[in-house]
Amino acid sequence: MATLTEPSPAPAPTGPFTPATFRVAGREQEAPDVATLALEPTDGRSFAFHPGQFNMLTAFGVGEVPISISSRPGSRPLLHTIREVGPVTAALCRAPVGSLVGVRGPFGTDWGLDAFAHADVVVVAGGIGLAPLRGAVQVLLDRAGLPMGPRKVVVLVGARTPDQLIFRRDLDAWRAHAEVAVTVDMATSGWEGNVGVVTSLVGSAGFDAHRAMALVCGPEVMMRHTVQALIERGVLPTSIRLRVSLERNMQCGTGLCGHCQLGPFLLCRDGPVVTYPQASRLLAEAEL
Ligand SMILES: Cc1cc2nc3c(=O)[nH]c(=O)nc-3n(C[C@H](O)[C@H](O)[C@H](O)COP(=O)(O)OP(=O)(O)OC[C@H]3O[C@@H](n4cnc5c(N)ncnc54)[C@H](O)[C@@H]3O)c2cc1C
Ligand code: FES
Repeated sequence: MATLTEPSPAPAPTGPFTPATFRVAGREQEAPDVATLALEPTDGRSFAFHPGQFNMLTAFGVGEVPISISSRPGSRPLLHTIREVGPVTAALCRAPVGSLVGVRGPFGTDWGLDAFAHADVVVVAGGIGLAPLRGAVQVLLDRAGLPMGPRKVVVLVGARTPDQLIFRRDLDAWRAHAEVAVTVDMATSGWEGNVGVVTSLVGSAGFDAHRAMALVCGPEVMMRHTVQALIERGVLPTSIRLRVSLERNMQCGTGLCGHCQLGPFLLCRDGPVVTYPQASRLLAEAEL
């Protein structure tokens, strides 16, 4: 059975309060309201992080927001995949190639992939929830067949409509080494795949629940139903990790200002990746 460790603690961030400047080296439109920004540091330095961590991105003159890193550690450029929901995310999504953005981080806990040796890893993503999981899937697939690697990787992805499906090229590439299933809530013309919520894929996915580790990210309601479906399949609650955001205001990112506090928990320091038992305590706090 897989080791049941908590997600590993965040390493100390390098430049906690002053954003480093990064140049927009590329921008890819993933969906009508979602873009991936490819960023290169203007000082040429490398940027170390673990999958699941986030950065504070600054659109200069507009504001700063937390955004998960969607690239794989060690690869360049640094990728962030952003849904346009308000002024800062809109400015970032529209940042022209060649312009500068600010980056502080990396912050927060990661997926803790070192605990996944010999596990059947089940990755469940809803919508833009695939962004913080992308680097994790790539690392897991790199490790497949190695002593520290997973026994198998299953990726289950849901999107509201086919045009909201992000990272299509990656999903196709992952099929060579992983079981990948995709579903949409509502089909449009030309869609020949599954229709239904992503939780409907959990029951028939090819993994051994007793050796499974699950990584889940998506809207809160999707995560609740996914956890229920995983537990019904026999996955241990302690083997389920979630990336939560809980709509908390994030400011310092370093555990100092208290803006992201929920009870004794600081989302920027103790999250955003948590085990399911931790997440249920958090959700109880959020509902107080
Ligand atoms: C740890 C963490 C990682 C994140 N990673 C990503 C990512 O990879 N890609 C991405 O697109 N977004 C991500 N987000 C959400 C992102 O930070 C917010 O969408 C952003 O702060 C909105 O800023 P804004 O000024 O554009 O809009 P605002 O005007 O601040 O908000 C617009 C709308 O979005 C809602 N909203 C704001 N923040 C959040 C939030 N954190 N969660 C849910 N709803 C929110 C507001 O209630 C409002 O309805 C992450 C959030 C956290 C906490
Ligand atoms: S954002 Fe300041 S303590 Fe978390």
